[in-house]
This record gives sequence, C-alpha cells and structure tokens, in this order.
Amino acid sequence: MQKEINIHFEAIENYQALNDVEKKLFDAAMNIRKTAYAPYSEFLVGCAILLENGEIYTGTNQENAAYPSGLCAERTTIFWTASNFPDVKIKKLFVIGAPRDATSSTPIPPCGACRQSILEYEAKQKDLIEIYFASLDGEIFKTKSIRDLLPFSFDASFL
Ligand code: THU
Repeated sequence: MQKEINIHFEAIENYQALNDVEKKLFDAAMNIRKTAYAPYSEFLVGCAILLENGEIYTGTNQENAAYPSGLCAERTTIFWTASNFPDVKIKKLFVIGAPRDATSSTPIPPCGACRQSILEYEAKQKDLIEIYFASLDGEIFKTKSIRDLLPFSFDASFL
C-alpha cells in the first residue's frame, strides 16, 4: 500500500513581504553570516534565533582542520541559546547560507543533522519552532515546524 506524508511550506517572495520581526531576523542572519569561520568550505552561514522573550541571538558555522569537528550555524546558535536560556522557548530560527563571494543564491535549508537537533528542542519545549531559510536575494521559504523538513522523524517517543 502506498502512503503519503504531506509537508507544507510558504514561499515568501522578497524581503519587503516580511513583517518587522522577520526583517530583524533576516538582517541579523545576513550580518552575522559575514563573520562565519569557514576557511575550508568558504560557505558562510548565518543563523538568527528569536526567543519568546523577544530577544534575538545569532551564530555562524564554525569549521575545523579536522573537518567533522566543525559545526553548522544552526546548531552553534541553537545549542548556545538552549545553554544560556534553557527555560525560554524558541519561536523562530532563520538561516542564510551562500558561498563567501556570492552576490546571488537560492534558499539553503538546514542539513539533516541540524534538523534532528532542532526537532529535539521542539519536543523539549512542547511548542513549534518556525524555520525560515533565505537566499541572499531575499527569497525566503518558511515552515511552521521542523517536522515539515523532517517528516519521518526519530524522537524520544521511540525510546
Ligand atoms: N552548513 C551550515 O552551517 N548549515 C547547514 O545547514 C548546511 C551547511 C555549513 C557547514 C560547513 O561549515 C559549510 O556550511 C559547508 O557545508
């Protein structure tokens, strides 16, 4: 028997279509992206997280000469906010990634490992985290939950 899982996302045409808080997140991810430590891939990723108290925190990918020891921008940022504000819910996670010298790009979604990490915090806080991934040009994809990006997911309910 064939079965289906439907996922949903919103395609936001450009920066102007974002609301004020979304614009702040876009700007924060764009700005921090420039400081990414990515000397090996030269692929710079910026991430901005909005907490329920209205604060925004940012992070970037951190690479390492021993390649697997590096970490993506999304996990750098979410681990930092979860460490410093363990009881404050995460509302939104915004990510922008592109090669260092690119002037144009397409929206880059979080990698599989980051999706799994984000899922853990959705489960922990029992509330959805909206995920945005954007291009340098301002094309943005948005999902209401990480489950739209990780539909057949493994979580603590199986343990
Ligand atoms: N990267 C991220 O920071 N986030 C992703 O979701 C995809 C990949 C980083 C990891 C590595 O430093 C570089 O981009 C190239 O893979």
